[in-house]
Amino acid sequence: MSPEIVILAAGRGTRMRSDLPKVLHAVGGRPLLRYALDAAFALRPRRVHVITGSGAEAVEAYLATLPAEARALTRSVRQPELRGTADAVGRALPEIPDDAPVLILCGDTPLAPPTELGELLARLSAADLALLTVSVPDPTGYGRVIRDPDGNLTRIVEEKDATPAERAIREINTGIMAVGAARLRQFLPRITATNAQGEYYLTDLIGLMHAAGCRLTAAIGAEPAAYAGVNSPRQLAAMERYLQRRRAGELLDAGVTLLDPGRLDVRGDLQCGRDVVIDVNCVFCGRVRLGDRVRVGAGCVITDCTLGDGCVVAPYSVLERSELEAGVTVGPFARLRPGNVLGAGAHVGNFVEIKNSRLGPGTKAGHLTYVGDADVGARVNLGAGTITCNYDGAFKHRTVIGDDAFIGSDTQLVAPVTVAPGVTVGAGTTVTARCAPPAGSLLITRARAQIFRDYVRPRKDDRA
Ligand code: UD1
Ligand code: CA
Repeated sequence: MSPEIVILAAGRGTRMRSDLPKVLHAVGGRPLLRYALDAAFALRPRRVHVITGSGAEAVEAYLATLPAEARALTRSVRQPELRGTADAVGRALPEIPDDAPVLILCGDTPLAPPTELGELLARLSAADLALLTVSVPDPTGYGRVIRDPDGNLTRIVEEKDATPAERAIREINTGIMAVGAARLRQFLPRITATNAQGEYYLTDLIGLMHAAGCRLTAAIGAEPAAYAGVNSPRQLAAMERYLQRRRAGELLDAGVTLLDPGRLDVRGDLQCGRDVVIDVNCVFCGRVRLGDRVRVGAGCVITDCTLGDGCVVAPYSVLERSELEAGVTVGPFARLRPGNVLGAGAHVGNFVEIKNSRLGPGTKAGHLTYVGDADVGARVNLGAGTITCNYDGAFKHRTVIGDDAFIGSDTQLVAPVTVAPGVTVGAGTTVTARCAPPAGSLLITRARAQIFRDYVRPRKDDRA
């Protein structure tokens, strides 16, 4: 039977010292909550119930941005008063049928592996409750797992309520458990708030069910670090590093050369072909695809781009929402703003900015150039300092440049304007729609040079 999944996300997140709800803080470029949601969706749930409270509007607004399929499965349930994790789970119960298996996840424990969550649920065929635990070197802050001498689970004690001996226990509650809905209905109402925090602890379920003779089981997570909770900026930062290390390791295993796996940040989804080389301090955001033999120099930031085979991005280039065909070279110090398609073998050099433009195959813009809203043909040379004047103060206009045109240095193209194929534009020319040089001609506008002989330049000591 498909599970009902409850994600606890109502907490104040006081220790974050932030106005942003804790579950909307990001690791790996995505909100913590997104990981819990994706893990939930991977388990093919009947419904996903997200408990919201503190910052509920912001969390609900985030849920509204999910893809339609995910949205259809997800409901948010307000917890009017933050009275603890047991109270939070109780808010979802009225909508959950008695015979459903329920998986409870914490919105602040993002990296729990979905396979282990699936295995936890499977344990419900032989148990009334299955708890996910891990043993950690430093259990500070977590609920400790108490077992009897035979190793059976008997209860969980929260740190604030624990005796020194209990605090020494290193097996902790990950906050994740699977339990039948009927059992939740039976035992949740028996939980009281008589503890150090005056809260209704979900963790008391273990002790109550044990005392009632229910069958309890604990699954031990294979990688403790994956179950770390995020309660503070320090823990968020530690999780970011852990996640980035793990991603870098996956890329290395896939054959990517990372000059330093400790200096790579992937904030989204990076896919690489064969023999890709990535130098230090690069940031990849959103969906980035690198073809075979792509090389990315130091300090590049690449967001939502596709780079064809053999592309080279030289250091300190910033690329966003652009498609580079095979063999394109970019940078150093280049900026591709959204909406570009660079044809095979095109070259974009230093201090060049390109936006919403298409460069044909083999076209070059080597130095100090702005190309905005332009359709540039194949094998065009855009000389140093070429500027498309695409904005008239109110509207944006397009520049069209035909194949094999040669645009001399320091040319302004006042859009809307078209340069026919094969035209040569002399350096320093201002090209306007009225020029319209025919294919193959030379166009040049240049002020006449004037020479003043015996000119005396002003000198500082001339002033009395
Ligand atoms: C909780 C567990 C602890 C476990 C740890 C694992 C309890 C009482 N304690 O402690 O045993 O080791 O997680 O990370 O369950 N929440 C609500 N409503 C509330 C209170 C909390 O939705 O009224 C949500 C929070 O947003 C959070 C989750 O429940 O996502 C856990 O709450 P938190 O306050 O972070 O509990 P911990 O002290 O971390
Ligand atoms: Ca927590």
